[in-house]
Amino acid sequence: MPTTLITGSASGIGAATRAALQAAGHRTIGVDLRNADICGDLSTAAGRQAVLAQALELTQGKLDGLVLCAGLGAQVHPASKAVSVNYFGVVDLLDGLLPALQKGQQPAAVVVSSVASAQLPWDKNPLAAALEAGDEAQAGAIVDAAGERGGNLAYAGSKNAVTVAVRRRAKAWGQAGVRLNTVAPGAVETPLLQAGLQDARYAEAIKNFVAPIGRRADPAEIAASVAFLMSPQASFVHGAQLFVDGGMDAMVRPTQF
Ligand SMILES: NC(=O)c1ccc[n+]([C@@H]2O[C@H](COP(=O)([O-])OP(=O)(O)OC[C@H]3O[C@@H](n4cnc5c(N)ncnc54)[C@H](O)[C@@H]3O)[C@@H](O)[C@H]2O)c1
Repeated sequence: MPTTLITGSASGIGAATRAALQAAGHRTIGVDLRNADICGDLSTAAGRQAVLAQALELTQGKLDGLVLCAGLGAQVHPASKAVSVNYFGVVDLLDGLLPALQKGQQPAAVVVSSVASAQLPWDKNPLAAALEAGDEAQAGAIVDAAGERGGNLAYAGSKNAVTVAVRRRAKAWGQAGVRLNTVAPGAVETPLLQAGLQDARYAEAIKNFVAPIGRRADPAEIAASVAFLMSPQASFVHGAQLFVDGGMDAMVRPTQF
């Protein structure tokens, strides 16, 4: 039975992914702020190190799967917290758990990015240099100083950087024998989306963000794609970003892929 660690397991896409992987025969270890096997805070370096230490202890240093789903939306205050969870909460766990994954059976990892990752390209991402340098304080300072724009910048900037971080790892992880991909959801009915709808700064844009399919996703529809990427059926899928967005990216950027 594969053992898979899932962050953000207490809610939304993470909870649905946990259920889908359990149904596919995985033993799951959930990580979240509360209601999880490992309760911890991915928004601080110390919190991430504590989560890593518990994960390695629980798994005795051997892991078959990793799904990094924990994330915060644009409405969060301060905006720097979204950068910490969405970017550093991913790269620190990827790098910290690679040795354990290398010891696993048919190991695979999926990062839940966003369709927003493609809307702020890397060469125009104001956070790119700070994030690539691993400078959490500098990246946080940039978004916190951006005023009204800070939330959108934190979200799109961190999601763009996390997809780049996965793609940059494709060579090393492929050579290490661990598959690594991202899923890029469009709008999904979760508490994160509801929190955005309740914030006057973002409600209108979220309401107008309608995919060609004409509705939002159920979390289980994202979970099914994550479960596919984690399965042996996806054994040659590596370094890919799978848009699960009802056609949103194709509509907005038809010539870029
Ligand atoms: N809902 C959408 O429309 C949508 C669209 C694209 C991408 N996403 C991404 O999907 C992922 C899951 O989002 P969701 O919509 O299911 O949201 P959600 O709020 O339902 O779940 C997110 C989970 O992450 C956890 N989390 C937040 N901060 C944390 C921290 N500091 N430490 C540990 N855990 C923390 C929360 O407690 C929560 O359980 C996120 O990365 C999000 O950016 C969501």
